Amino acid sequence: MSDHSNQPNESPDPEKTGTPVPATGAAMGNLDTHSARYAERTAGMTASEIRALFAVASRPEVVSLAGGMPNLAALPLESLSEEVARLVTEQGQTALQYGSAHGVPELREQICEIMALEGISAHPDDVMVTVGSQMALDLVTRIFTDPGDVVLAEGPSYVGAMGAFSTYQADVVHVAMDEHGLHPDALRGAIEEVHGQGRTIKFLYTIPNFHNPAGVTLSEERRPEILEICARHGILVLEDNPYGLLGFEGRTYSSLRSLDPDNVVYLGSFSKTFASGLRVGWVLAPHAVREKLVLAAESATLCPPTLNQMIVSRYLSTHDWLGQIKSFREQYRERRDAMLSALEQHMPAGCDWTRPEGGFFVWFTAPEGVDTKAMLPRAVTQRVAYASGTGFYRDGLGTRQMRLSFCYPTPERIHEGVRRLANTLNEELDLLRTFGSRGGRELSGPQTPSPDTA
Ligand SMILES: Cc1ncc(COP(=O)(O)O)c(C=O)c1O
Repeated sequence: MSDHSNQPNESPDPEKTGTPVPATGAAMGNLDTHSARYAERTAGMTASEIRALFAVASRPEVVSLAGGMPNLAALPLESLSEEVARLVTEQGQTALQYGSAHGVPELREQICEIMALEGISAHPDDVMVTVGSQMALDLVTRIFTDPGDVVLAEGPSYVGAMGAFSTYQADVVHVAMDEHGLHPDALRGAIEEVHGQGRTIKFLYTIPNFHNPAGVTLSEERRPEILEICARHGILVLEDNPYGLLGFEGRTYSSLRSLDPDNVVYLGSFSKTFASGLRVGWVLAPHAVREKLVLAAESATLCPPTLNQMIVSRYLSTHDWLGQIKSFREQYRERRDAMLSALEQHMPAGCDWTRPEGGFFVWFTAPEGVDTKAMLPRAVTQRVAYASGTGFYRDGLGTRQMRLSFCYPTPERIHEGVRRLANTLNEELDLLRTFGSRGGRELSGPQTPSPDTA
């Protein structure tokens, strides 16, 4: 059993300390009774940090820089709906039927063409379609980790991945990044430390391109080095790449999978480049691993939704999807620019932030002494929301950090949101100067993402 006590954001579970109540009819209706029956692994399942504030943060007057929702306004909805109607009329018997756990063959071929854009040469047999890449994260963790195993992950890292790791009682050890992404020396250091404790590292989880939440990209130079370190220590690499085609200058990087096909499991998704609501992603894995993944997927869902896969497939064959991705890139670049210029204009001295070349997120560091989690309710009162930094770590770091997303609000709203945030921060700094520390209640803790925090 893994020890969750080092997880800073976990709220104590009173039911775990109580005596289980017998399953009488009356007690069955009691929430505490159910909690007493939960499996140990559910201790790692806790709600997202900003869920409590989400009802307020989603009010129209609040500018939310917290969420990771793609902006779908640019999608060609009319022609898409015609294609969907045609699909159901012409192929409804197949589209509305169960399919294979492996995924629709035509879509798997198209996925191979998409991955070729980032240098991957793959056979459709080695691709398995999943219900978003979130499901792939769950399955990979399920088949590789035992309770107490270590997963290495960048610090900070994607909340949803860490939620999957906790669910299977794996412990996350973070590896530091800088502006060029994951640091090879930090990786060596982390491996040495974990192995020194006699613990097993099952895989390195990494988001090399346009990182969520850090907004940085792993440099081309570091990629072979990271792979070489992992291969030498027998550590599998789990490459999560939902943003790879969203480089603002159209630049793509060599995927880790293309550099070491035998030791990398690759995750892709249509959520950021097409439609997140269809929940279609994929995993590309070495052949033997793919077999195991298919078995695990069968037990989870029997098969991914056939209709949704066929919609994606038809969209790819009837629309200029590359042109659509270009238009997404342009839209997100404009929003990134709006955020960076607003930050330059409004933020007080002592702040720092990343300057992403793609993706959805800026990672912001407030001056010494600021606790972004404690400041969040005050920011919401000022009608701006963000995702505070501690939720993106499992080791207590991130107090001064926050993730600011520029994917969803318009450039004007982004500007206004950053202005409000700067006001909040200035007030916070005034308080700190006056009292040395701020009053205020801590929110209780993260980790499972809701769509707004993904
Ligand atoms: C890094 C990363 N991985 C995976 C996901 C999950 O994406 P999907 O919608 O494909 O499940 C997200 C969503 O925000 C993400 O940012």
